[in-house]
Amino acid sequence: MNAQQVIEWEQKYVLGVYSRPPVVFERGEGVWLYDTEGNRYLDLVAGIAVNALGYGDPEIPRIMAEQAAKLIHVSNLYHTEPHTRLARLLVEHSFADKVFFCNSGAEANEAAIKFARKYARTRHGEGKTVIVAFEGAFHGRTMGALAITPRPHYQAPFRPLMPDVRIATFNDPEAARAAITEDVAAVFVEPIQGEGGIRPATVEFLQAVREAADAVDALLVFDEVQCGLGRTGHLWAHEYYGVTPDIMTIAKPLAGGLPMGATLVTQKVADVLAPGDHATTFGGGAVVSAVAAYVVERLADEDFLAGVRARGAHLMRRLRELNDSHIVDIRGRGLMVGIEFDRDIRPLVQKALDYGLVLVNAGPNVIRMVPPLVISDDEIDEAVKRFSGLLEGEEEEG
Ligand SMILES: Cc1ncc(COP(=O)(O)O)c(C=O)c1O
Repeated sequence: MNAQQVIEWEQKYVLGVYSRPPVVFERGEGVWLYDTEGNRYLDLVAGIAVNALGYGDPEIPRIMAEQAAKLIHVSNLYHTEPHTRLARLLVEHSFADKVFFCNSGAEANEAAIKFARKYARTRHGEGKTVIVAFEGAFHGRTMGALAITPRPHYQAPFRPLMPDVRIATFNDPEAARAAITEDVAAVFVEPIQGEGGIRPATVEFLQAVREAADAVDALLVFDEVQCGLGRTGHLWAHEYYGVTPDIMTIAKPLAGGLPMGATLVTQKVADVLAPGDHATTFGGGAVVSAVAAYVVERLADEDFLAGVRARGAHLMRRLRELNDSHIVDIRGRGLMVGIEFDRDIRPLVQKALDYGLVLVNAGPNVIRMVPPLVISDDEIDEAVKRFSGLLEGEEEEG
């Protein structure tokens, strides 16, 4: 099938909830993507912060094939080895005591909402049901996660939403304290807001949220679906803050591009959950778990994380050398970087393909760079060169 036919069939047969540029990607290698026409692109999106190890890591297909030949699925009715190994690995590398596996970031957050409501009901009785979240947050598109993703455009067509949600201003300790009252079961925070424009929480804010949650025995949930698993140069983004949650949700890079999410909890949360409280058919399947164990071991390696921090600093330095009067801020941590412009940059994202660059935005005026974590300094230089060419080209046209 050629590119044109793929695009025609897409328009004819695939539900139109995505708007895609006229490119058909066929294969990848390292940080490079190749389309069906033989063009290559430097990828600063990585499947939206998924492909941490880049494309073509030989261990991933090897582990998949080995596990698939033995066993792909038997359901969560039975014991299997791969997901218990992965759970142990995640517990050993985090604050958590227990892990629940699912298939996406939204599902991990749904589980966290349910766990928090059960915890509050078990420990405090009826009436402690409110979930606090923050402006600019993105927690997913399922009904619970959507209710704590305060964007009119995403929410309006699907109302009524899950009730008992309170939204407060992000990075405002006073607003957080005012919102976190006795009726709150859980507080959801992204330590670095991803879709919201790569906005890191401040230390004071996360500390205030932790203290306010403790004061009313509300659970603090960190959504590290996008910022977790090495993206910031720390295995967990919250390590930078010295603030620990009661629950953490992860997904995106966890299983090397295969669908997997997880909800990590402390013992006090685990204590209120019993068989039948929550479940999913595919969660923690043998193949994804076997791959994820490999990915987590790679991402948790101290040298690997130091490399992410060093290359993140290099990317930041190179971006700060750019001479574009429309750039108003460059921020982020590790290889999670946002470049804010004083104008709508969404047309740039599409235009970038002409410069052999794959980009994504985070909101209308922020370019988000979340490349594979294995990107080299030379590839960063090449990416920034192409990005600079794109900005200059726009300037000339504009
Ligand atoms: C912080 C955060 N939470 C949750 C989600 C939802 O994850 P998924 O698309 O896997 O459902 C995303 C996806 O972008 C995210 O960035």
